[in-house]
Amino acid sequence: MCGIVGIVGNQPVAGRLVDALKRLEYRGYDSAGVATIVDGALARRRAEGKLFNLEKRLAEEPLAGTIGIAHTRWATHGAPTEGNAHPHFVDGVAVVHNGIIENFSELKDELIADGATFSTQTDTEVVAQLLAKYRRDGLGRREAMHAMLRRVTGAYALAVIFADDPSTIMAARSGPPLAIGHGHGEMFLGSDAIALAPFTNEISYLVDGDWAILGRDGAHIFDMDGNRVERPKQVSSAAAYLIDKGNHRHFMEKEIHEQPEAISHALGHYVDFLEHAVRPVAGGIDFAKVPSLAISACGTAYLAGLVGKYWFERYARLPVEIDVASEFRYREIPLNPESAALFISQSGETADTLASLRYCKEHGLKIGAVVNTRESSIARESDAVFPILAGPEIGVASTKAFTCQLTVLAALAIGAGKARGTLTAADEKALVRHLAEMPRVMAGVLNTIQPSIEQLARDLSKCKDVLYLGRGTSYPLAMEGALKLKEISYIHAEGYAAGELKHGPIALIDENMPVIVIAPHDRFFEKTVSNMQEVAARGGRIIFITDAKGAAASKLETMATIVLPDVDEVIAPMIYSLPIQLLAYHTAVFMGTDVDQPRNLAKSVTVE
Ligand code: G6P
Repeated sequence: MCGIVGIVGNQPVAGRLVDALKRLEYRGYDSAGVATIVDGALARRRAEGKLFNLEKRLAEEPLAGTIGIAHTRWATHGAPTEGNAHPHFVDGVAVVHNGIIENFSELKDELIADGATFSTQTDTEVVAQLLAKYRRDGLGRREAMHAMLRRVTGAYALAVIFADDPSTIMAARSGPPLAIGHGHGEMFLGSDAIALAPFTNEISYLVDGDWAILGRDGAHIFDMDGNRVERPKQVSSAAAYLIDKGNHRHFMEKEIHEQPEAISHALGHYVDFLEHAVRPVAGGIDFAKVPSLAISACGTAYLAGLVGKYWFERYARLPVEIDVASEFRYREIPLNPESAALFISQSGETADTLASLRYCKEHGLKIGAVVNTRESSIARESDAVFPILAGPEIGVASTKAFTCQLTVLAALAIGAGKARGTLTAADEKALVRHLAEMPRVMAGVLNTIQPSIEQLARDLSKCKDVLYLGRGTSYPLAMEGALKLKEISYIHAEGYAAGELKHGPIALIDENMPVIVIAPHDRFFEKTVSNMQEVAARGGRIIFITDAKGAAASKLETMATIVLPDVDEVIAPMIYSLPIQLLAYHTAVFMGTDVDQPRNLAKSVTVE
């Protein structure tokens, strides 16, 4: 899940390549590099760590050239050193790669036996070595590219330049996304349309198995058999997105505060506020007829799916099979072809989620995509697309995408309940009225809880371990709270079903490990309070996130109680997301971590 870009231009490209990389930094930030062709020879600058290190290198030692490729890395094979940073050079061939070449070890042995000397530990170098070998064997550039693509297996988005051809970039896609941007006398290549937004909004997407030759006047695209194929030009809306922090310290903070507005957009798409009804969903899935639903996703999107399971089962009486995509794809789940499957993904490019989608498609299920990026692979391969309309999310830890995913899943579950006759028109009206309250309630919470959260975050930043507990839809939320905290503050945290406390985690309870209990005053409240008693009886310190009724009903002493407005169960997961996001955010700020780009993580995970 690295980011790649390329420009075959008519003015110097190094600066523009780095600008484009900045828009791809969410894909990885272990190292970065740029290569151009200067006077018939390859030239490059690379640097370990984040992009500003590469910018510094370029300021010290500028790079000329009107054609170039560049890369921001999330290390898979080989440490994130400058030596392993892309572009990789072998005998006049330069390569950048996003993905994993799965047969690299076998190819490497073969190339070494043939006399090649490898200078990196990366899987990518075999691509450059193979191309160089085919050139030495006398193949032309295009033939060498085609021959290389027939040898490598795995996932890749590739961009290649040859020192002896300063007017062509070659590209290939198998798995990770790749977009071609059409300019005037210049052509562009990038892992997504947002990277290319400053240059052009005319985009063609390569599909799996495509490879392409880009010249200054256009692109020729081929399939794996070498036949020409056409990929339509689309006008991308990516340029409309303003990607800056406004007056916030971090993108994450900005995105947390954008939630009332983002959710309004999502709601406007799915809900008719006048009629208090959900709008009919896009064709492709008939929720009235499906016997069951499969849901699969990764990370935070999976936890949104888990909340969705509760809703589909409760409101639509629709059984849901759910698993993280990395397990789902290999579990050989017996699937009913009459069923439908939903795949939830902010980026729409997560490799495991896409593979699970394809597995379900092969088994004849109707496919729905709950995505933020409508032009993504997951959206393109689905029968029905349910956009979450969150706008670009830059912070690696997902916040507004999560609550927008929840909003869309709630609307879909209510719509399914209506279609299946398990919700009456009055039920639908009442639920939709609650959904419509969300932006206002969220804005109120964001305006009021900051001081108590900051105070608490100061205490949490001194802890080594934190336990989150919840029941019902608060259980996936407990897991999301723990995930957020560990992602950005690096504090070890676990989320548990409150009822499971006594089956293990209770052994950990002492005065050093805060237990954060998410418990709105809902039908599970009394049970959760009993679990809190068990924590209190063992000297555990409780942070209680509840509503006014809950705070009044519990007589337990807590380390802190965060009181949220009384809300209906259907919107509680979205409202209770705010304190857990803010708690993780402020704890990380106190600890001085890199909130938007936490260590070792990446936002778009296009490798298995
Ligand atoms: C990464 C991100 C998470 C995200 C997950 C799934 O791990 O850091 O924030 O939830 O991928 O990504 P997706 O784009 O499929 O929602």
